[in-house]
Amino acid sequence: MTLHTYRSGDDGLPLVLLHGFPLDHRMWDATAAAVPGTRAVLAVDLPGTPGATDALPEPSLEASADLVAAELRAAGVERAVVAGLSMGGYVALALAERHPHLVAGLALVDTKSAADTDEARANRLRIADAAQDGATVEPVRPMASAVLGETTRAARPELVDVVSGWIDDQPPVGVAWSQRAMAARPDRTDVLQAFPGPVQVVVGDEDTITPVEAAEHLVETARDAQLVVVARAGHLSALEAPDAVAAALADLAQRTDTAG
Ligand code: MLT
Repeated sequence: MTLHTYRSGDDGLPLVLLHGFPLDHRMWDATAAAVPGTRAVLAVDLPGTPGATDALPEPSLEASADLVAAELRAAGVERAVVAGLSMGGYVALALAERHPHLVAGLALVDTKSAADTDEARANRLRIADAAQDGATVEPVRPMASAVLGETTRAARPELVDVVSGWIDDQPPVGVAWSQRAMAARPDRTDVLQAFPGPVQVVVGDEDTITPVEAAEHLVETARDAQLVVVARAGHLSALEAPDAVAAALADLAQRTDTAG
């Protein structure tokens, strides 16, 4: 696993970005560049991404969370504002459960706290087998357009190519690992309910994978949550509307610094 430093800095808690599936830290590049201020901004490449397929543990998001915690501690990060998009949000909730002292503030971007339905779980396991047995990312290629909102697909079709390129870079064995890990995750609504720090929920208003209703559920669940609905963005809001997402994350980081 690799920790990418977008920006070093000691002005407030570091902001740690966890990517979605089937992607890697690059989906955060535009947002990271747009985060105002001078605080540190870091991103983690989760297990299964390019260069992170050696010695993969049994597939689980708990394993991902533990590896993130170890990576952060090795870099001297004891406490952080953690932002996760979609799968990254699932990992962020696992991190809050297993390493609560590490997570001072939580941004849940285009994600949910619920587990999969039986149907979704079976579908993931089918995709995992197809990717691994065929040594191909073909089964997840359709996600390149599914993760983008209809406005982005119509107005900036080049972003579909960008996302397709990132998907093509993913190791099939890593795609299979992540699908199996997500299929095994429990409902973590209780973790969010118990989380004591500030929460920022962010969702693209054209997100069809984790729609606005899922975000509203997160806001209703958390003790201290604010909702930012990003206009004309889909599931990959951090790529489609980086300025809006960066502002929401900076806002959360400020609230977290103030909360102590
Ligand atoms: C993601 O963007 O990380 C995926 O849509 C998550 C999922 O498949 O549940």
